[in-house]
Amino acid sequence: MAKVFKRTHMCGELRRDNAGQAVVLNGWIQKRRNLGGLIFCDLRDKTGIIQIVFNDQIPQELFERADRLRSEFVVGVRGEVKERESKNKELPTGEVEVYVSDMIIYSEAETPPIYVKDDDNVSEELRLKYRYLDLRKSKMQKNLTFRHKIYKVTRDFFDSEGFTEVETPMLIKPTPEGARDYLVPSRVNPGKFYALPQSPQMFKQILMAGGTDRYFQVAKCFRDEDLRADRQPEFTQIDLEMSFVEADDVIGVQERFLQKVFRDVMGVEVQIPFPRLTYDEAMERYGSDKPDTRVGFELKCLNDTVKDCSFPVFTDALAAGGDVRGINMNGCSDKFSRKDVDKMAESIKTFGAKGLVWMRVEEEEIRSSANKFFAQEELRRIADVFEAKAGDLILIVAAKPKVVFDSLGFLRRDLAGKLGMLSDAQYNLLWVVDFPLYEYDEEEDRLQAMHHPFTSPKEEDIPLLDSDPLKVKANAYDIILNGVELGGGSIRIHDQTLQKKMFQVLGMSDEEIRSKFGFLIEAFQYGVPPHGGLAYGLDRLVMLLCGAPNIREVIAFPKNQNAQCMMSEAPSAVAEKDLSELSIQLAPEV
Ligand code: AMO
Repeated sequence: MAKVFKRTHMCGELRRDNAGQAVVLNGWIQKRRNLGGLIFCDLRDKTGIIQIVFNDQIPQELFERADRLRSEFVVGVRGEVKERESKNKELPTGEVEVYVSDMIIYSEAETPPIYVKDDDNVSEELRLKYRYLDLRKSKMQKNLTFRHKIYKVTRDFFDSEGFTEVETPMLIKPTPEGARDYLVPSRVNPGKFYALPQSPQMFKQILMAGGTDRYFQVAKCFRDEDLRADRQPEFTQIDLEMSFVEADDVIGVQERFLQKVFRDVMGVEVQIPFPRLTYDEAMERYGSDKPDTRVGFELKCLNDTVKDCSFPVFTDALAAGGDVRGINMNGCSDKFSRKDVDKMAESIKTFGAKGLVWMRVEEEEIRSSANKFFAQEELRRIADVFEAKAGDLILIVAAKPKVVFDSLGFLRRDLAGKLGMLSDAQYNLLWVVDFPLYEYDEEEDRLQAMHHPFTSPKEEDIPLLDSDPLKVKANAYDIILNGVELGGGSIRIHDQTLQKKMFQVLGMSDEEIRSKFGFLIEAFQYGVPPHGGLAYGLDRLVMLLCGAPNIREVIAFPKNQNAQCMMSEAPSAVAEKDLSELSIQLAPEV
């Protein structure tokens, strides 16, 4: 007898046209019902489910084996497709069933700790612990197939545009992306460590110096940072770099790439070129450098309007160099109760906001939490800035600019989501350009590169590097989809004097520069083309296109919120002997 039945069809493929055919199927038993002389089972593979039937015409021995079948047994069956008497409209295969004449039980299964059903309401920890069961769900298989299609389109597209896929090393010196590194001890170099790449940044730039002209890679990256719905410690980038280009060239290729992904994978036509917003405009209008433009509720600045008012919350904020800004939730006043507004105020405390001022615009008057500080005409003047009408709810925050932007940027998107206004079927792609080159790190009281230190400044801003570095804009661009940063990149510095200047402004000593980036600087001494590139977060792209709630849904074996693999139990303790081979001693409390 054959050890494995050679299948003729996948379970989810069978339709009425197949009636009368002899078929061979392999798969998992989803469920079994014994109705006396008839046993019905649902047989499942990655394409779907088909009903199989064992009746009293088959040998007694086969019938008895069928009666032993339980959920998640793995079997192969031979049989004949027949049209069903009672059709199941819920299933694509619901018009037919397979009458089994032969079966192999390949393996039996214990009662599974989670059911293999898309709507199985089980904790994510359990799903991750028993990932092999979870992966059997059709939605997970769909996500993996979807991801595979994106790899394929990516490779085909970049190949057709003259890019070469090159693998860069995993055991490297720390990269400049600025998160914490995962370190790997070197046994043969006691006391020395590799870092896992936060990105292939320096290697891809060296590939340009190496004459590769156009590089891309589906690249694994590692960052030891606090996790969120769209962050994993180990994630994948579609990483690329191009020689002899300016920002518009890189952007142009990406627009064609994304258009192809949407067309080939989603059957959706997106218009190119995508809209572009400068960083300043994105912040002013949406309070975010990754604006979700599926809804309006744009920010308005009230600094001028309220500068002479008698409300200390506003005037104190302005005196301290802060801002007073607000959003108009047009027509939504009756959708949010007093309690809802209190909750909003609570929710923006995480951004450092001390409070939220509200104004409800009615036919006769404007009511506000700051009523007693304002005459009606003053409130009206504020409402006019928002072009407010009866039924509008205005929300205002006064604080340091960053707190104001973060709070209002969060509120406009959060409230739009709660009102069901953010459609998954709408894809708003846009570029944010002209980022600041530097940002001020309050904790460390120094400047930091906003992107990374190889990003070039806008030519016209180079004179400001000495006098006012925070005003210098960069040749950097981010691609945003529905409020999520899909990717980012820049035109790099290829002029050594300018690169040195960049490092100097960052307060780096020659020694620090040499030890961190010496090999890149050295490579650039021997002839380097102007170059630039970008990297997409592949997991985020797949998540958004699948409509998945977080990136763990589109990664086969993700880590949990504590950066642990629930299934394999990594990370784990290691034996003393293994540590001493690496010349490592643990601190006593570990
Ligand atoms: P950046 O740091 O902006 O740029 O990363 C590029 C994209 O990678 C994704 N991403 C992540 N996805 C999941 N989990 C994470 N922890 C995570 N961190 C980042 C985001 C982000 O937009 N070398 C530069 C690119 C360049 O300049 O060419 C870089 O890595 O979608």
